[in-house]
Amino acid sequence: MDDRLISEQLVRPGSGLGHTVVVKESTGSTNDDALALAAAGAAHGTVVVAERQTKGRGRLGRRWQSPAGNLFFSVILREGLEPEAVGLVMIAAGVAVARALIKNYSILAKLKWPNDVRAFGKKLCGILAEGGGQGQLDYVVLGIGLNVNMRSEDLPPPIKEIASSIAEETGKERPRAEVLGQVLDELELALADLARGDYETVLAQWMALDEIIGKQVRAETPAGIFRGQARGIRRDGALLVKDDESGRERAVVAGDVVIVEQG
Ligand code: BTN
Repeated sequence: MDDRLISEQLVRPGSGLGHTVVVKESTGSTNDDALALAAAGAAHGTVVVAERQTKGRGRLGRRWQSPAGNLFFSVILREGLEPEAVGLVMIAAGVAVARALIKNYSILAKLKWPNDVRAFGKKLCGILAEGGGQGQLDYVVLGIGLNVNMRSEDLPPPIKEIASSIAEETGKERPRAEVLGQVLDELELALADLARGDYETVLAQWMALDEIIGKQVRAETPAGIFRGQARGIRRDGALLVKDDESGRERAVVAGDVVIVEQG
C-alpha cells in the first residue's frame, strides 16, 4: 500500500482542524514544530504531521517510539479554550481517538487516565498536550501518536509487549490519511463540546470507556505513591482516587496510575 502523507490530500476545507497541514518527512518532534509555528502566530487548527520522529516524546519525559507506518501529529489549538478547560483537552482527545477507533474499526478501545487509548490492555495511542504563550496561555499544542500500521515486533522490548496498532487489532493495514481525518472529525466534536462549556458530555463519554474506574490502583504522583480505588475524573481532568489508608478521596493531577492485580 502506497501510504505516503501528502499535504494536499490531508487538508480539510473550512475553518476547523486541518485547514493547514504541514507534512514533515522526518523531524525531531511534531510537538516542537507545532510549538514553534504557534509561537510565530500559526492559526488555530494548523496540523503538523511527520512520517518519522527522531525525538518523539511522551509524558513525564519519556520517549515516544516512532516506527514507520504510524501517525505522529500535533494540532495547534487557540480558540474555544477557557483556562478551566485546558486540563480537559487531553481527556477530550482521548475520547476522540477512542470513538474514532470504535466507530471506524470496531476496535474495543478503552481509556486509561490521563492519556492512553488501549485495546485489551495494550496501548494504541498516546497524547501529549503542551501549552505556550507570552506570560499567559495563548495556545495549546495537542500531540497525538497513534499506532496505525506498525507491527509490535518492530518495537524494542519491553514496549513491544505492551503496544498494539490498528493493523494488529483488525488484521489489516489502513491508509493513515483516512485515519487522521477520522480522528480530526471526532476531535472537532469533542473540542466543540468543551468550547460550549459542556464538560459533562466529554466527561460522560470518557467514563463510558474508562477501564480503571472502580479498580484498585497504585497512584504514582510527584507528592508520593499511594493505593486506592479509582473513582472518576474531576471537571479539571484530574483523576479522583479514594486513598485506602485515609479513606479520603484524593485528586491526582500529575503522574501515573497502575492497575493493581487483586489476588
Ligand atoms: C504519552 O503516551 O506519553 C504521549 C505520547 C505522545 C506522542 C505524540 S507523537 C506526536 C507528538 N510529538 C511528540 O513528540 N509527541 C507527541
